[in-house]
Amino acid sequence: MTPLTLIVFGATGDLARRKLYAAIAQNVRAGLLPRDTALIGISRQEMDDAAFARLVEDSIGGRWPSSSPPQYLAGNADQPELYGDLAGRLKGERGLHLFYLAVPTQLIAAVVGRLAEAKVGRNRGRVIVEKPFGVDEASARTLNRAVQRAFPERQIYRIDHYLGKETVQNILVFRFSNGVMEPIWNRGQIDHVQITAAETIGTEGRSDYYDQAGALRDMVQNHLLQLVALTAMEPPAVFSAEAVRDEKVKVLSAIRPVRTEDAVRGQYQKGQVAGERVQGYRQEAGVAPDSTRETFAALRLFIDNWRWHGVPFYLRTGKRLPERATRIQVVFNKPPLDLFEGAAQMNVLSIHVQPEERISLKIGAKRPGLGTHVDPVDMNFVYASSFRSASAEAYERLLVDATLGEPTLFTREDEVEAAWRALDPLAQRWDKEATCLPYAAGSWGPQAATALVARDGRFWLEP
Ligand code: BG6
Repeated sequence: MTPLTLIVFGATGDLARRKLYAAIAQNVRAGLLPRDTALIGISRQEMDDAAFARLVEDSIGGRWPSSSPPQYLAGNADQPELYGDLAGRLKGERGLHLFYLAVPTQLIAAVVGRLAEAKVGRNRGRVIVEKPFGVDEASARTLNRAVQRAFPERQIYRIDHYLGKETVQNILVFRFSNGVMEPIWNRGQIDHVQITAAETIGTEGRSDYYDQAGALRDMVQNHLLQLVALTAMEPPAVFSAEAVRDEKVKVLSAIRPVRTEDAVRGQYQKGQVAGERVQGYRQEAGVAPDSTRETFAALRLFIDNWRWHGVPFYLRTGKRLPERATRIQVVFNKPPLDLFEGAAQMNVLSIHVQPEERISLKIGAKRPGLGTHVDPVDMNFVYASSFRSASAEAYERLLVDATLGEPTLFTREDEVEAAWRALDPLAQRWDKEATCLPYAAGSWGPQAATALVARDGRFWLEP
């Protein structure tokens, strides 16, 4: 195995502590990364290697499994001396240098610029850039140029951790390894598609970032549009990184700009989630008391291509909703004649991304007994019972792929720009909004989100 040094910028941040160190440790334990994987953490906070090692072990809730103890460098991302020190530390480290940029998007150009000046990275390095990649198409483009000055595109890995989820990778396998799906996967047979990414959590101490981003930039531009792209893309001719990403870009580029009346933004007020009383968004530490940032977004999207013309994609995501659930629901046309007294929710294929990992097809079945009553029942594929192994964490898979130089599950430069392009007009209008519709924490968002779908004679589906 090629020796590996992971250099984490944003080493004391939320993402590193909640996800990254655990993913690295698990991969080392599983033998997917070298036993002596070196970790160099970088952040502004002053601390020594020993304190950093404690922070890492606290984060993973156990011993650091690599034979190489964690190292730490304190410094400001824009300080040239920091990169001199880093170059010194890296001199002794063989093999691949993987730079993980878990820092706010505004800092990324500075970091990669300094890495290039210090001649660190280009030859033996790869860089992983966390989302959000820019704040709109123009900034994403500028950032792409900045990162590409320091690293060639094939060494750049833009992360969207949803792509690392087993159930998300399975979308293409499900669509394209089962010949029965493709002929019905189009406007002829599909009435509409719903994509829900609901969370029960609030801003979790990330208000500085979140109050600038909001639900549209935090979740829709990346995770939800990736789910749209995988659900809607054409089959690639081969399963290669370029072919898959070419098809995703085509779908993203075919999204019609969202009209104001096709989008709903909401902000949570105090309420109850899972039996617990929680405060409103504006009362969260670090949020301005008059913030109008959205914590909920619902959109009606159209994809202007032959396969999807006229088929609405309803998207919704929000914080402090009643349950944590991400799912894609493909609603097929009703039969032309209603022979039986039917139940409302049939002909629905649900891809449950999380927390349940399953795919189910809601079908109508005859209720046993006299008469002919049709009840909706599920035909189910459940990951846990079919495969009897737990799915790996998204970050684990993505880290391994980046070390192997496998970019399929990362977003390409034109892909990230196309995703911004699809939402920019709406995001810009929303930035100027002086109000945001309130919803009680623990509810499914503002009433207007229900109305958005009801207007078309449809309703948000239950799992
Ligand atoms: C992150 C967002 O990208 O995804 C967070 O910044 C969100 O706000 C998180 O909570 C959701 O990820 P997951 O894997 O828990 O669905």
